[in-house]
Amino acid sequence: MKFLIEGRKPLKGEVAVAGSKNAALKIFPVALLTRKAIRVFNVPEIEDVFRAQEMLVALGHEVKKIKNRIFEIKFKKQKYFDLPVNLVNKFRASVMFVGPMLATCGQVRFSHPGGCVIGAGARPIDLFLDSFQKMGAKINISGNYYHLTAKKLKGANIFFSKISVTATESLMTTACFACGETILKNCAMEPEIVGLAQYLNSCGAKIKGAGTPTIKITGIKKLKGGEYKIIPDRIEAGTFAMLAAASNSGEVLIKNFNPAHLESLWALFDKIGVNYELDKSSVKISRSKKLVSCDATTHEYPGFATDLQSPYSVLMTQAYGSSLIHETIHDRRLLFTDILTQMGANIIMADPHRVVINGPTPLYGRQLVSPDLRAGVALIIAALIAFGKTTIDNIYQIERGYEKLDERLRALGADIKRIDN
Ligand code: EPZ
Repeated sequence: MKFLIEGRKPLKGEVAVAGSKNAALKIFPVALLTRKAIRVFNVPEIEDVFRAQEMLVALGHEVKKIKNRIFEIKFKKQKYFDLPVNLVNKFRASVMFVGPMLATCGQVRFSHPGGCVIGAGARPIDLFLDSFQKMGAKINISGNYYHLTAKKLKGANIFFSKISVTATESLMTTACFACGETILKNCAMEPEIVGLAQYLNSCGAKIKGAGTPTIKITGIKKLKGGEYKIIPDRIEAGTFAMLAAASNSGEVLIKNFNPAHLESLWALFDKIGVNYELDKSSVKISRSKKLVSCDATTHEYPGFATDLQSPYSVLMTQAYGSSLIHETIHDRRLLFTDILTQMGANIIMADPHRVVINGPTPLYGRQLVSPDLRAGVALIIAALIAFGKTTIDNIYQIERGYEKLDERLRALGADIKRIDN
């Protein structure tokens, strides 16, 4: 399937933000730690979530859809210790199944996790392996395969040499089932991590400090089941806000999210001159007089999110002046700007981590291929503000993280269709 987009249609109306992809993907592996049912609410119905559910079923457990966006997960007998390669290859968060398997079954075999190709080569997992080793796991690596074993994990003091979201979440979750106390230092502080810790604590875990650089976990014997409401997707909210600002064609209300999770974006909007109004759980973007360019550097939370960098780069093609975009988290995440240049943008790549964008420049429709999730949605924004028609292929990458995106864009007045290849 492809998207066919006719650009420059005025956008106006309302759009509701779905549950967070990067929060939802971390709750399914937790089912391996609880012998009781988990009911999850506000689950985004996106491809990556379907893969995580398939992973649980492949391991012998039950995932039942109760209603739209509500799922019940039931732990059954753990049958297998191999994570299916065809699923592991599809999404990075598959690595979140490793720790709970090791903690409850004493062993796990898996191939190197897949997902967005945004790092130099395969995105590393050394922080996970080093930490599991510190907790007493034996690690056997042959080629692209890992076999981890551990009779009983023990608490440890772990300092992450790099701030990593999934490594923080994985070790925080796994340490719940280690003997004694674990202290994690130099942790990521994303809201999704705080949500996960709150859920685990509501099921009997003893986690302190989530949302700060130091997290302390005291091992426990078992976790109760429970109910978990996935937090709104701040990246999706920010993406829609930048679409509305770049289109600059009408009033768009983005609702059902927590604006406090995007303070770094609002700070940029103030400098750019975007006409926006915040409310408790929404933002209204109206037509702006003139957008001026503003440099942006991606940073761990609460800094400017790397997952918003691609849409921001498109926005800067429509702003007056030069802006330097500095991508500090993922090595290959600026390569997609080459595609924007093919559409007419004026972008100079200084090095793999820095580009200079000169604007405003008109963009023109082309035949495109979505290289990954966030670059893919950025190309949709570019196509919606471009002159003429654009086709975007490989839309699976976009549907990995955005629920029914074309339907929601059409509701705002966008001319986007799904067509066969
Ligand atoms: C999470 O990925 C998100 N994915 C990413 O979102 C997001 O870009 C990233 O955090 C940063 O915010 C999920 O939550 C599923 P990292 P993660 O480990 O945890 C290096 C999206 O578009 N590193 O925080 O995989 C790594 O190479 C996705 O939704 C090591 O060196 O990212 C990177 O440079 C894309 N060794 C840096 O740390 C390790 O063992 C931060 O990556 C692990 C990571």
